Order: sequence, then C-alpha cells, then structure tokens
Amino acid sequence: MVTTDPVMHQPLTPDYYHYEWAPIDSVYRSSDGGAVVTWRDGEQLKCHPLWLRENAPGPGGIDPRSKENDLNIVDLDLETRVGKAFVENGALVVHFEPEGRRASFHPGWLRHVAEGEHRPFALLPEPQVWRAAELTEPPTHDGPSVLASDEALADWLDDLLRYGLARLINLPIGQETVELVGRRIGVLRDSNFGVTWHVTVDIDPNSTANTNVELPAHSDLPSRETPPGFQLLHCQENTVSGGRSTMTDGLAVVNHLELNEPDVLELLTSREWTFFNRDDSQDHRWTGPIIDKGDGRVPWTFRAFHPVRGFPAMPEEEITGAYFAMQRLGYVANSDEFQIRYQFAPGDLVAFDNHRVLHGRESFDATAGVRRLRGTYLDSDEVYSRVRVLRRHLTSTIPSEMLLTTEEDNNA
Ligand code: OGA
Ligand code: ZN
Repeated sequence: MVTTDPVMHQPLTPDYYHYEWAPIDSVYRSSDGGAVVTWRDGEQLKCHPLWLRENAPGPGGIDPRSKENDLNIVDLDLETRVGKAFVENGALVVHFEPEGRRASFHPGWLRHVAEGEHRPFALLPEPQVWRAAELTEPPTHDGPSVLASDEALADWLDDLLRYGLARLINLPIGQETVELVGRRIGVLRDSNFGVTWHVTVDIDPNSTANTNVELPAHSDLPSRETPPGFQLLHCQENTVSGGRSTMTDGLAVVNHLELNEPDVLELLTSREWTFFNRDDSQDHRWTGPIIDKGDGRVPWTFRAFHPVRGFPAMPEEEITGAYFAMQRLGYVANSDEFQIRYQFAPGDLVAFDNHRVLHGRESFDATAGVRRLRGTYLDSDEVYSRVRVLRRHLTSTIPSEMLLTTEEDNNA
C-alpha cells in the first residue's frame, strides 16, 4: 500500500501542494474519538475521526495516483474512531478502530487546515473598498511585463482582486492582444458574442454597447444564471472625442446605502427582475435581484444593465418602490463621489470584476474618429485559481519544475 509520496518520502496529501514540514509537538485523543494536535507555538487542530479517516492515504482514502478520495461514502464505518495516536518525526500517526488501520498525516498539511488556508478565499487578497477620492484611476501595470513574467502577472492580479479593477498599459494594439492576456490568466468564457468580441459603433448593432450612446454604471450579461465573473477590455484605437471610461466600486455603494438608505438596499437585494438578451438566434433570460448578496460567503453580484432588463418579477404593488430603489442606485453609482472617469488609450487593457464593479462609458461623437475595443470574459474561478497557483509557485522553495510536472494531471 503506497502511503508516502514517492518523491518527497513524506505522507501523501490529498492535493499537489508541497507543504513545509511543520513538526507536531503533541497529540491527544478527543472525547468524540478524534485527535487534537498541537504545534510548539500553541496552534491546535481538532481532527474529527471521520474526516481524518477519509483523508488517510491508501485505499478507502487518498488514492496515491489521483491524490483524490476513493472512499465510497456508503462504505464508511460511522463508528470509526482514533484508537491510538502519537507523533513520529513530527508527523501524526493514528490507528483507526475498529478497522485496525494505521495512517500517518503530513504535519504541514494539517497545519494549513489549522490556519484555515483550505478555505475558498484564504489565499486571495482582501477586497479594499474604494470611492472616487481614494482611487482616481485604475491601479496601473506594465502590459508587456505581465505577458512575460509571472511575478508581474501576480502583482497585476493582486490589484485586480483587491480593488476589483486593474489596468495594463503599453500593450500591442492588435486584435489578438486581449486573448493573449486573458489566456495568461486561464480559460476564456465563450458566449453568443464570441470568445472575444468587439466594441465599436456598428451599423446594425445587436447590443447597445455597439452604438455611441452613454453606458451608465452597469454589469454585463445579467441575463445569465451566472454573469461572467471578470471582463477584460482592450483599447485598439480611440480617436473620438468623449467616450471616457467609468468605474464604480459596488461594494462602496452597498456600504453607503446600508448606512444612509437601508430601505433602498433592502429593495435592491430582495425585488427581482427578469433580464433578457435576445436576437434572431438567441434567447437568454434570467431572473434575479439587482444586488445579489448570495449566502454571504461569496462576493456580492450586481445585475444592472437597463438595455437588457425586461420585466419586474414581483407583485404589482411592489413595482413602483422597486423602480425608485433602482433609480437611487443609478444616482449613487453614477455620482462623482463613487464613479471614476478616465481616458481609454490605445494599448490600454482594463480588467475588472463584473460581479462587484459597475463599468460604463460616456457618449462620444462617432462622426469624427474611431473607437475600437476588444473584450473577453473569464469566470471568477479562473482568476482565483491562477492567483492561488501563482502564489504557490512564487513563494515555494521547491524547484518550479517539480511543481509544474504535477499540474497537468490535476484535473480536480
Ligand atoms: C460594454 C461596455 C464599455 C465601453 O461593451 O458592455 O461596457 O467603453 N463597453 O465601450
Ligand atoms: Zn459593459
């Protein structure tokens, strides 16, 4: 039975991380049949017996080939408990009763659980909420450096997650640039607009975006069950007058409403609307509140784009109030206090969180000059995953070839 990593000669872990050896100081059995481990600095982890058994290396636990769990839950003996537990060379060693199975656990892996590093948002930067006075322009990075270096990519994405937007400058203005940058992050999200799409003034537009009119603070594709998490917009050409870009931090708007207009926030989070995105060959629709705060564990999602808002999905007597609340959001989100405005120059690319940040543009005069952007979407998962992996590789003392060899096999 293979229960140690063949390269590292350490207990297997249910993932491809290479943990620092963080020797455990002591262990005792808890009254529920689990184990409590303690490190020298006082950090502790209480291990439930069933969770520990499920993560034991070997059959009915962690398969050394996939590093995933092969336990069929119906085969788990719910009476499982830790019969004996001790520390061996800093690792936790446990005998499970009544099975009689011995298993050892990597102390660095246990330590990362003790420190909460396994949680979805643990390795990502904390959002920093901003108003126009605090962030006058998008945080700006050098585009060619981000294309060439993982360190520069990590710095840019760090700002993107912290502020909800981050800009690259000095990029080539070719049509393929947005795709090149997007693929540095991860898999692009296709839609009926294509993997990448243009924003220009079209003769026969299938979206308000492709006209010269103002786009007030909005989020894209609220007509989808899950709107795209992130958007990249790259400026290829811009010789028109007007058409400055705008951005508003939705989290700052929420904080403001919570404090000053709680009734409005309540209406925005509870009254639902149906959004449509339809043309000859498409019929997308979804119903949701303008501000969706989910279950509180994931960031808020804004659904706001008047051209694709179809119907109020609420009882008749609530409709006037819901329109009032939406109008209040319009005033606040497009006000000088919350919204920044800046020029979009050829070679610039702005990435933003389409769930959190409301973007837009001023109207422009399309009779003289051309304004040509190219965009793409990514799911949030792609951005989050890239940030975690970059952090793992850039902070690890393990040679990166060793980390990268396992990457392709890990399709969990
Ligand atoms: C869009 C959009 C911004 C711009 O296409 O949805 O917001 O600057 N465009 O044209
Ligand atoms: Zn848009």
